[in-house]
Amino acid sequence: MNRRNFIRLAGGGTIAAATAGTLVACGAVGSHYPAEAVEAWKGPVGETDLRRRAVAYAITAPNSHNLQPWLVDLRESGVITLRTDPARVLPQTDPWGRQILIGHGAFLELLVMALAQQGVASEVLLWPQGEMPGALKDWDDRPVARITLQPGGQPDPLFAQVLLRRTPKTDFDTTRAIAPGVLAQLLGSAPAEAPLRVGGTVSADQLPALRTLCWESARVELLTPRTMMESIQLTRVGPGEILQHRDGISINSPFVRAVDALGMFDRTQPPAEGSSAYKSAMGRFEGHSRTAMGFVWITGPNTRSDQIRTGRLYVRQQLQATALGVGMHPMSQAVQEFAEMAPHFERVHQLLLGRPAPRTPQEPTVQMFCRMGYPQGEVPATPRRPLARFVRT
Ligand SMILES: Cc1cc2nc3c(=O)[nH]c(=O)nc-3n(C[C@H](O)[C@H](O)[C@H](O)COP(=O)(O)O)c2cc1C
Repeated sequence: MNRRNFIRLAGGGTIAAATAGTLVACGAVGSHYPAEAVEAWKGPVGETDLRRRAVAYAITAPNSHNLQPWLVDLRESGVITLRTDPARVLPQTDPWGRQILIGHGAFLELLVMALAQQGVASEVLLWPQGEMPGALKDWDDRPVARITLQPGGQPDPLFAQVLLRRTPKTDFDTTRAIAPGVLAQLLGSAPAEAPLRVGGTVSADQLPALRTLCWESARVELLTPRTMMESIQLTRVGPGEILQHRDGISINSPFVRAVDALGMFDRTQPPAEGSSAYKSAMGRFEGHSRTAMGFVWITGPNTRSDQIRTGRLYVRQQLQATALGVGMHPMSQAVQEFAEMAPHFERVHQLLLGRPAPRTPQEPTVQMFCRMGYPQGEVPATPRRPLARFVRT
């Protein structure tokens, strides 16, 4: 092992240093997340209350930066009220809270599925007290949705995939192409309801431009100090931090733990352009971009309700991808609405929709943009906070 190793960080940063001796000294033995941090993936073990059982499934929903921004109120009998946690937002990379609300849509879809599995139908009313305002600073505790439980509810075949779903944040196997039929199955099985639309490609003609877009937009996020710092501040290193937070970007690799234990993981500033750390971080995004074997996307208007609908559709797509054994990984940089990203925001709309970036919420907007491929190994489940943290009873 080289004395100097460059360590990749999930948040995009890197660290130079650490030796084999360091690892031994730190007792680093493996990179599995602590079992308690990922207990959500066992499902609602020991829960008997119907609504709490459904929430236990819903908290496994995909959500940006694994912030888990959901709060559920169970104080009213026969009703579940979903709110957003105002502290769990991403002001730099998601200044309008669009991605946060997509995560609420994913939560809602799993909640409805988990209720249906128990023979309960849901009447979902979005924004019962009006839509969330545009600016994050104006967000209040108005409900995102009020779900009224009713008799009925048909089990959904995709429910079987809920606890198996993973987002593969790794390079894909470039020796395995995605068959056009697999893409068609994916797109056909989770049909978009108007006004949303789904699209995708595995075509050799289209992949290079989309891979380049991923990489170049990632570069902007890494090079913009405030957006880079947003990721770094949500990075959890080692079993202690992962267990303490059970959210964010969890890293438990022996190298990073060792480097962190030595006080060499500087979380106060982004890596400088041109530094080894920067180059390595770029390499990680470059790897993700280069190994994209296909892309899928969701487009539509961009009202608050459309954002929720997008999340509902997105998680269904990812569950279907799970059933098909193919990986789906959002690369959201190009669709982020901060000023420095504007050229890539424009380009992603030109490439996928053949039209300029939207100027109003009514115009077609790229809501989700994901790469696809076959993971090369097992994809770990990510941490979730304990159920009690989400529930008000
Ligand atoms: C709206 C949205 C945007 C996302 N964007 C990214 C992204 O840009 N990069 C990434 O690695 N993961 C992205 N994700 C995936 C989340 O990081 C992932 O869902 C979260 O870490 C939880 O992991 P899990 O899906 O495996 O449970 C996104 C998810 C959502 C819902």
